Amino acid sequence: MAKKTIRDIDVKDKRVLVRVDFNVPLDKNNHVSDDTRIIEALPTINYLVEHGAKVILLSHLGRPKGHINEEYRMDPVAQRLSELLGREVAKIDDCVGALVVEAIGRMRGGNVILLENVRFHPEEEKNDEKFSQQLAQQADIYVNDAFGTAHRAHASTVGVSEFLPAVAGFLMEKELDILGRLLVHPERPFVAIMGGAKVSDKIAVVSNLLDKVDTVILGGGMSNTFLQAQGYDVGKSLLEADKVDLAKGLLAKAKNKGVNLLLPLDVVVAPGAAPDAEQRTVPVNQIPAEWMALDIGRKSIAEFTGAMEAASTIVWNGPMGVFEMEPFARGTEAIALAMASSKATTVIGGGDSVSAIKKAGVAEKITHISTGGGASLEFLEGKVLPGVAVLLEK
Ligand code: 3PG
Repeated sequence: MAKKTIRDIDVKDKRVLVRVDFNVPLDKNNHVSDDTRIIEALPTINYLVEHGAKVILLSHLGRPKGHINEEYRMDPVAQRLSELLGREVAKIDDCVGALVVEAIGRMRGGNVILLENVRFHPEEEKNDEKFSQQLAQQADIYVNDAFGTAHRAHASTVGVSEFLPAVAGFLMEKELDILGRLLVHPERPFVAIMGGAKVSDKIAVVSNLLDKVDTVILGGGMSNTFLQAQGYDVGKSLLEADKVDLAKGLLAKAKNKGVNLLLPLDVVVAPGAAPDAEQRTVPVNQIPAEWMALDIGRKSIAEFTGAMEAASTIVWNGPMGVFEMEPFARGTEAIALAMASSKATTVIGGGDSVSAIKKAGVAEKITHISTGGGASLEFLEGKVLPGVAVLLEK
């Protein structure tokens, strides 16, 4: 069922506590180096400003583990947000207590403040009730726009909703709508491409998607475990030996469901993962015993991108190889470019594929790039995210 959003409530002159995910990368000069998550929160912030709300933004940054850590202060984020909004954003040096109460007391409708990193308080990750109440007391309405953190049951994502009317922001609404459609009414043919190093990270997603998709493409380090499950010897390649049986189970499930499951046909191998290592492309049944697969080969690229051509919906998570190293980046790059030129609804979830699509310079050609890494994966696993579950239904 759809969640209530800020459109469904009166926010004028209300103190609106907005949980955003401003967990953004900072460069060595302490400047925000990728402001995507801030830009994605602007529609919600602008709407609230235009409708006369007192906008109190709250986020985590990094993993300071319940202690004040100068590296993880929200000041650079406030500065970038202020530039993007074209208005002043006061940064308050705590997220609860006298400083905050005083700052909020001075606010007028349309003002925006950003509170300090909520993870400086150990109570946040414990979803502590008193701390949740303290956060809630400072506001009249709670808005969750932090899709990227919705898989965490913390005070600022779950606990606070016990004490305030809780609704979704526009980014949350957009993510739930687009990712939700993948699971419920995807336009067919529906192709899922999964990659990345570890099978264990993706098993549950692949398993859930096998019930929905027409084709699953598996590449990257995780595909070695599937190749091994099919009886190939993957040499020194990344392999999760304890997951081979699980991989066999998924291969059988795909067969039962009539899902077309594609694995690499050939791979780029090298004695080690180094940019200057000797390398060659071999069929998957000829991986040398002492070498490792570090990218998919040309035949695999042709097969994978060919399967993408007929798709009406494509979701991609995880690189096809060690794409940070130029010699092993070609497979991931090819998938990024095929996503960009596809006429299908294209959705990308999670860190590395997002970096790959940006590196290829084609991010604007993708229908939806999720702001959630772990959150989008858990969503695609079919889990109900705790930060979503607590929001009011329409
Ligand atoms: C993310 O970047 O995936 C979210 O901000 C959540 O961060 P976390 O993994 O530290 O909880």
